[in-house]
Amino acid sequence: MKFVKLSNNDEVAQSAAELISKIDTSGTSPVVALPTGKTPLQLYKHLVQQQKAGKLALGSFTWFALDEFCGVGVPRESTFGSYLETHFILPAGLSVSSLHALDFRSTDPDAEAARYEQSIAKAGGLDLAILGIGHNGHIGFNEPGTSFASRTGSRNLAPRTREANAYLFADSDMPYDAISMGIGTIMEANRILLLATGESKAEIIHRLSETAPTTALPASALKNHPNCIVLVDEEAGARL
Ligand code: PGA
Repeated sequence: MKFVKLSNNDEVAQSAAELISKIDTSGTSPVVALPTGKTPLQLYKHLVQQQKAGKLALGSFTWFALDEFCGVGVPRESTFGSYLETHFILPAGLSVSSLHALDFRSTDPDAEAARYEQSIAKAGGLDLAILGIGHNGHIGFNEPGTSFASRTGSRNLAPRTREANAYLFADSDMPYDAISMGIGTIMEANRILLLATGESKAEIIHRLSETAPTTALPASALKNHPNCIVLVDEEAGARL
């Protein structure tokens, strides 16, 4: 795991976009797992701008949302599928069918998770997984205690995660459940890029840098990955 400290959120986004631009597009369609949340918004802005300016060729990519809320009462506009369409796929002019998202209304999360794993495998596996990190060290919705071997499946959201995502549910009840790519699923990506920005992430980035792999800190699993880069801005990296 390599930590790279950059001066601000914009540099983190630029650097991540640069890494995406270097993915080999000459063979089969590159496959990328995408995060949601506040952290990657700037990255999506960059990708949209560069795609529109003809500086990137993202048209051949296949995208998989990392995770999703789950529940019959979840409004579509609060879902991560909707987020990725709104902030990235549609403004970049990419085909909606290039984005795979988990079914937030699924009444059989195990079957939905199995379907997702199959879709990832059918697409050829993940070339790159881009991740954010929760204040408790979660990646995707893999909360502390999740097995490093976990596959895509249903997850219960930790209280702190529900608090951090409450802004997405202003007019409806915040769900307790989600489906997430597993840590084992994420670890199979050829490359992993974890992004962290802002002072609220300084503590968890400090912990991540100091902690040997333990399920108490899900992101520490990435220390066992041969090609994982953590991009942080000045604030998130303040205690590195
Ligand atoms: P955030 O979420 O980017 O909104 O901080 C990150 C995460 O919980 O993975």
